[in-house]
Amino acid sequence: MSFYDDGRQVLTGLEAYYNESVQKEKKVIRQQGIRALHQELDLAARLKAGNLTGENLETFLRTYLDNTTRLHHPGFLAHQVGVPHPTGALGSLIDGFTNNAMSIYEMGPAAAAIEFFMVNVLLEKIGWVPMPTEIETRLTYPHGAGILTHGGSLANLTALLAARNRLDSTIRENGAPPDLVLLAPASSHYSIAKAAGIIGIGEKKVLPLALDSHGRVRVSKLEAAFQAAADQGRRIVALVANACATGTGLYDPVGEIGDFCNEKGIWFHVDGAHGGAALFSGTRKKLLDGIHKADSMVIDAHKMLRTPTVCAALLVKDASALDQTFQSKAEYLFHEKKNPGFDFLGQGMECTKAGLGLKFFMTLAALGEKKIEAYIDTAYGLALEAFDYIRVQPDFEAPVKPESNILCFRLRAVDNETQIRIRDRLIEEGSFYLSSTKLGGVRYLRIVIMNPETTMDHLRDLIAAIREMAAE
Ligand SMILES: Cc1ncc(COP(=O)(O)O)c(C=O)c1O
Repeated sequence: MSFYDDGRQVLTGLEAYYNESVQKEKKVIRQQGIRALHQELDLAARLKAGNLTGENLETFLRTYLDNTTRLHHPGFLAHQVGVPHPTGALGSLIDGFTNNAMSIYEMGPAAAAIEFFMVNVLLEKIGWVPMPTEIETRLTYPHGAGILTHGGSLANLTALLAARNRLDSTIRENGAPPDLVLLAPASSHYSIAKAAGIIGIGEKKVLPLALDSHGRVRVSKLEAAFQAAADQGRRIVALVANACATGTGLYDPVGEIGDFCNEKGIWFHVDGAHGGAALFSGTRKKLLDGIHKADSMVIDAHKMLRTPTVCAALLVKDASALDQTFQSKAEYLFHEKKNPGFDFLGQGMECTKAGLGLKFFMTLAALGEKKIEAYIDTAYGLALEAFDYIRVQPDFEAPVKPESNILCFRLRAVDNETQIRIRDRLIEEGSFYLSSTKLGGVRYLRIVIMNPETTMDHLRDLIAAIREMAAE
């Protein structure tokens, strides 16, 4: 079999998979145990035989696809993973095949040029100055910069490293002193505390900001948090805000927080891994009013921008912050050379790095700006419609009016554990796959509307299914 024949077979299989998922002919999720799957996929024998082509490949692919979680199924409502656009997935294939590890320009000029371009698209959305394409002027500031990394967690870590370096550039060489703190809402994604641990601040030194009853940062309490840190002789590496928070999907008031940080000279990092994509919507971008006042921001293309996993953007207002943080020495890479492009190597953590910009670009170029805007508006609008529907059901409650496509709700009459059991039952039954979170110590079911195929009819069916299970 040739690559072409195998490839055609794979594409045929994927198209059938897509259709049966959208048509709900298969369960949205099907979880077998690992041992059963090792056997069913026949992994050990296939490794030995080394003949994964033709019919073997076809059988393997069928078994693999039968044991996937189907993001294209309209009942996929669980996690913040983009339902990938098919053209974006072709981008993954092209990138995998060409394997241009583009951290240095000479290892992937097209991939690096596209990443550069996509970083600039995002910088402009934020309102920051894009990177100059005249590379000779690259080191004349001010302008923004950024890098596409392997996930929002790594992007948050990268941002906080830049903030730490801005505060004290000796730490990289000497190690972190004990007086560093980070100010962040407890509603932040766990990768923020994890990053604080990794970069030597310490998870315990993430000082929680005062929040309103829905977990949004209270601007009026920022001064007190700042003073408390100052009184204890602490140095603030950065202040973090959510746009939007993972649990509730609510946006912190980034403009007002930005004013405060700018006045105090604190690095302001906005985690927009999920909700930063609202910048692509004419109506929803107001949720991020004043975002240009931030120093760094994360936007995951693999969440709300329909790009195959993984593709996260770390963006900074001042390019010199990345240049100064990630300069390194390696004789085999850094030496005099003709470089008509730009090396991303000095912008972040990774050495070998996939050409993440390609699938991002291909997704947006296939959809066009109007369709990506319509996708975001529809998903956000649907969460609001579902909220309006659920809150008038006598047996359900929804505590937070959604601002994005994330919605939490619960059955009134049952305890925390039963909410989880209902989720388990839904997963077993296979028509819907949703997640769950705790807000204020209370367990909620949580939906994230990622799939453009999901409609209000599906969500009404979900509520009916939960009601039926509760009755049992
Ligand atoms: C607000 C926020 N930040 C960061 C992350 C982590 O992103 P990733 O899963 O791409 O590492 C998430 C993931 O859900 C998130 O919701």
